[in-house]
Amino acid sequence: MTTTTLPTPADLTITPRDRKFGRETPAQRLWHGGRVEATAIYNALSSTFPLGEAFFVESVRKFRDDAPPKLAEEIRAFTTQEVMHSREHVAFNKRAHEAGYDLKPLEDRVEWRLDMVRERPPIASLAATMALEHFTAILAHELLRDPRHLGSCDPETAAMWRWHAIEEIEHKGVAYDTWRHATRHWPRFKRWSVKAKVMLLVTRNFVIDRTLGSLELLRQDGLTGPRVWARLFWFAFVRPGMFRKVFAAWASFFMPGFHPWNHDDRALIAKAERSLGAAQPAQA
Ligand SMILES: [Fe+2]
Ligand SMILES: [Fe+2]
Repeated sequence: MTTTTLPTPADLTITPRDRKFGRETPAQRLWHGGRVEATAIYNALSSTFPLGEAFFVESVRKFRDDAPPKLAEEIRAFTTQEVMHSREHVAFNKRAHEAGYDLKPLEDRVEWRLDMVRERPPIASLAATMALEHFTAILAHELLRDPRHLGSCDPETAAMWRWHAIEEIEHKGVAYDTWRHATRHWPRFKRWSVKAKVMLLVTRNFVIDRTLGSLELLRQDGLTGPRVWARLFWFAFVRPGMFRKVFAAWASFFMPGFHPWNHDDRALIAKAERSLGAAQPAQA
């Protein structure tokens, strides 16, 4: 029988941090330092989370019964974290709505994409989740690594994004290990080629959908045309350039022997958690 080794650190603990953000503060339209393109990109990302994270949970949990006890326990903690992230992004998206944005067209597109994956066998949903969780984890790492990404934001909203990033890094191995376990009897090349194809597809769809979503929100601010596209591109790829800076981590996914925990970034989580704790006391 083929055995599965799980290189997630043996002493890793996945700890759901039940925090609430922004319930007392009024909705600000341009919460990202008054920058319209920055607000649009982050709002477009946030619009995907409630539906996307529910899909991740549903996809991974289908394989929980077959998982070894440690992984099954991690799936439980992952589920709790994602459910709380969705709760906070529902609240965040409601504030964006109150500030005058209509996120419905963006949410409809997410639903359309996810429904297409749901028509395929459960392993396809797990593969998409595994790829998207890597994507989320590398964005989360970059978000915490360089404070300029949330530079002049409203502090409460910045804290929410950092809290989410901490937990995304912490559970970055769960979908991957579930996928490895579910495909443990597959030939190595098949595993790699499916994984690589899914990542390429997911990345293409992510870039197209988030770009269209950001442009739709900018249109709602009355901004259209090539100068607006250039501003969006500059923010995403040049300065602060989140998507350029994650490229190497994205590409590492295709290397033989890749595992999300080949890069142990728990020190970054600990540092972010200390500053988050200082920014806002934990709620009862
Ligand atoms: Fe999440
Ligand atoms: Fe996640």
